[in-house]
Amino acid sequence: MSSLKWWENAVIYQIYPRSFQDSNDDGIGDLKGITTRLNYLSELGIDAIWISPFFKSPQKDFGYDVSDYYEISPEYGTLRDFDLLISKAHELKLRVMLDIVPAHCSSEHPWFVESRSSTTNSKADWFHWVQPQNDGSAPTNWLSFFGGQAWTWEPRRQQYYLHNFLPDQPNLNYANPEVIEEFNQIAKFWFDKGVDGFRLDAVHTINADSFPYKNNPANPTFKLGPLPQDQQPFFRQLHDTAQLNQPGIQEFCESYRRIADSYDNDRFLMGEVDGDNDNAMSVSETFTEAGRLHATYNFDLLEWDGLSVNEIKEAILKASKVFNNTGRLSFAFSNHDVPRVATRQLKALHLSSKDSDKMQILLMKLQISLIGSSCIYQGEELGLEDVKDIPREKMQDPWGIEFAPTFLGRDTCRTPMVWNKLLPNGGFSKANTTWLPISDKHLDRAAIDSALNPNSIYSELSKFLKWRKKQSAMMNANCILNIDGDDTQISFDRQSDDQTLHCNFNFKTLTASFKEI
Ligand code: BGC
Repeated sequence: MSSLKWWENAVIYQIYPRSFQDSNDDGIGDLKGITTRLNYLSELGIDAIWISPFFKSPQKDFGYDVSDYYEISPEYGTLRDFDLLISKAHELKLRVMLDIVPAHCSSEHPWFVESRSSTTNSKADWFHWVQPQNDGSAPTNWLSFFGGQAWTWEPRRQQYYLHNFLPDQPNLNYANPEVIEEFNQIAKFWFDKGVDGFRLDAVHTINADSFPYKNNPANPTFKLGPLPQDQQPFFRQLHDTAQLNQPGIQEFCESYRRIADSYDNDRFLMGEVDGDNDNAMSVSETFTEAGRLHATYNFDLLEWDGLSVNEIKEAILKASKVFNNTGRLSFAFSNHDVPRVATRQLKALHLSSKDSDKMQILLMKLQISLIGSSCIYQGEELGLEDVKDIPREKMQDPWGIEFAPTFLGRDTCRTPMVWNKLLPNGGFSKANTTWLPISDKHLDRAAIDSALNPNSIYSELSKFLKWRKKQSAMMNANCILNIDGDDTQISFDRQSDDQTLHCNFNFKTLTASFKEI
């Protein structure tokens, strides 16, 4: 029925492995746990799973600090467990996407351990090592996303190294062809295992261009954004002229694309990218030019604060101007980095819990009806809210530990899934304690209980996903016409050769309707 490639309209379910399902009672989710829940996902009707990083890592940034890209962190299992996971997923016709972190690795990775040891070793140029300024200060005014400077002093080399995130996440130097080649090997290793695609973490933060490093200018239109993390001083600067989004990154994208294209079955590359102020769409356009990434992961709906329907409309309009008739964009309302959308809306709109549920379904239907693929974050299908009462001593995210109580970090959206209300720890784990606490408030929305309840958000979403697959306009035409409606409605038409489907999303009645015209 569809002439599109699978990823052009896929519904991708994001799994945060630490919090999905524990199979060995250590209080931490793992690969075997994921495998036992694949039926649940297949019955929901999604097309693919994206698993956040499970590679060997000291877990300073919970997997986004990799110390071996070819190994699995012991708490998550073994390569054999992964082989079983992917083969079961494929049996169920679910594609599997991994989260590769190319921009930086862990400071415990042997590459960095060697590189920092002297200026003459074999990995000496694998990272960004820069002389101090004459007064001893850091080479530029660059800041890290997580607060503080993006440069840390290394006494052994008498130089600074660059890290756009934690000091434990040194940025790799992509001006060095050996680094590109090593990451090519990593892609091949996982593609050979049958992986269907990658979500490429923070690709816009790859630093590929070398000297001279310029200072970032101030951001003249800085205003405090809707997300707690927007309060970081990082956003008071502009980055696209110096620190981020530099042209050399495209060499990495192009080499990854060549590798993906050398495999069968449409292997997919989706890059997480962002840009200064309103630059995100043009950044996405650059990253998805011919021969580069297939699609980018867009932040506009993730940043939606729940107040204005027009803001969503603007995001859709901007996207369709650039990407109409293509699947080169992926939308998401929630992920492991931002407060869950249910929490953002309740806070903004003071909805009752019943209306909040209706809003969840409405938003998911809207997102999935847009051009491109869409990502649903684990628990979104249950309407879960953030958990804000995690005691300080149980917090895990270094970002939150540093800035609480002003900013609680990302633990609030990362607490473990609950599966059965009546089981200990909601069925997530039989351990006495879990890595982050389970929320009692989530228990009434436990996943398996919801799947059995015909009136749950899960069931409504599942019905919608199955219905959507039968609409050629949704499957065939990547086309949105006449984005319209007053400020409480969004409506557009999806079209194929034999069907035009008028889609209306009414934020007053909190209902979605689809009419063939
Ligand atoms: C990931 C974060 C991570 C950061 C650094 C992001 O975009 O989604 O969870 O902390 O990259 O790797």
